[in-house]
Amino acid sequence: MTIAPTASAQTLPEADWLDPAELARDPYPSFARLREESPVAWSPAVKKVLISNYEGCSFGERHPEIFSSNVSGGTMVRAMGGQPMIRKDDPEHAAERAPMNRTLRPKQIMEIWAGKFESNARLYLNRMLEVGKGQADLNLDFAKPLAAKNLCDMLGMTSVEPLDLARWSRDFIAGTGNVLDRQEIWDRCEVSRMECDAALNETIARLRHTPDASITSMLLESGMDEDKVRNNVKLAISGGVNEPQHMITNLVWLLDRSPGQKAELLADPGLWKQAFTEGTRYFSPIGMITRETVADVVVSGVTVPAGTQVGMILASANRDRKQFTDPDAFDIHRGGGPNLAFGSGVHQCAGKWAAQKAVGEIAVPMLYRELPGLRQDPDRSETWDGWVFRGMTSLPVAW
Ligand code: HEM
Repeated sequence: MTIAPTASAQTLPEADWLDPAELARDPYPSFARLREESPVAWSPAVKKVLISNYEGCSFGERHPEIFSSNVSGGTMVRAMGGQPMIRKDDPEHAAERAPMNRTLRPKQIMEIWAGKFESNARLYLNRMLEVGKGQADLNLDFAKPLAAKNLCDMLGMTSVEPLDLARWSRDFIAGTGNVLDRQEIWDRCEVSRMECDAALNETIARLRHTPDASITSMLLESGMDEDKVRNNVKLAISGGVNEPQHMITNLVWLLDRSPGQKAELLADPGLWKQAFTEGTRYFSPIGMITRETVADVVVSGVTVPAGTQVGMILASANRDRKQFTDPDAFDIHRGGGPNLAFGSGVHQCAGKWAAQKAVGEIAVPMLYRELPGLRQDPDRSETWDGWVFRGMTSLPVAW
């Protein structure tokens, strides 16, 4: 892997066959073809150079000085009404990230947040029990409200209705992915932005008066401009609901199809952490992240010119057989090094430890502890959606 272009480097191949509708149905066959034929290729449909192999994605993550996060004309900035840290490079990015880290490190997750994650999981488990087997939907009755409530707490937005926060999250994500420029999506983003800003008026006034351990309070205490605080709270709202929500349903779906591994987990709860990590590799909830090259660069033998928008397909990198043995098998005992589901560079997910604790060590183990017979309802099928952000929109369950 070199950074400077060389005479032997190939010019960009084109993946003109890649179809976003097919990707939304099931992206994995297309990812496999990309990795096989042209792991670095221009996609006219996605309007980006796509990097789909592990080597290329991890190279991009290790070189933020070339793969800039300050992507021009980005939809994310329009969706949220400002530029959050994930669209900035260091040192600006690092300055905004540091205060958020103060309450999201493993020690703080244990001391401050784990108890809340536990009582929230209990609350929504009881609600799902009231809905009853044969009717319950693990996504709608448990995963979505729980992920949203956990984030309301972490943000200090305690008077917000969790399902409103989940709706804002969905709209900001739809705006970020609105490459086809659909007006109806921008309209939804605007409504959600206004509602979110109104809620933040109350939250910010309260936290200025009575600071606490929340993310928003940490950002305010750092002396950050209020506009930046709002942009970064909206970033956390976009990134902090869907992914933990999807990991709850992904794990139950996977364990339904892996009865031997489910039995091992029920017998030895110490294995849950590695089951969560393997689940994030197998179905990575953030399929692709975007960067822009600021210099010509050679990735896996292909020259990518300066000024190119690049999509690094983390979900595909995580199924690369050059990195993982038998990558299409779900195996909680897998070694083979870290996967890229949370990113790996300076922008590595700020909520990684929170998600691991809330989902992998609390919510899903609690589901199986209380409902050992939990399974997908064989009479009602699940639905999936998306590829840039992918997960189940419905997972009917029984127990
Ligand atoms: C399973 C759950 C989650 C997954 C798979 C996930 C994945 C990711 C990924 C792939 C990135 C981008 C990394 C990069 O560009 O290199 C990211 C960034 C981020 N995530 Fe998460 N995330 C999850 C949960 C959360 C939660 C719960 C929060 C909030 C508490 C959160 C907050 C953020 C923030 C603020 C960033 C931007 C970090 C930066 O720019 O420095 N995430 N996440």
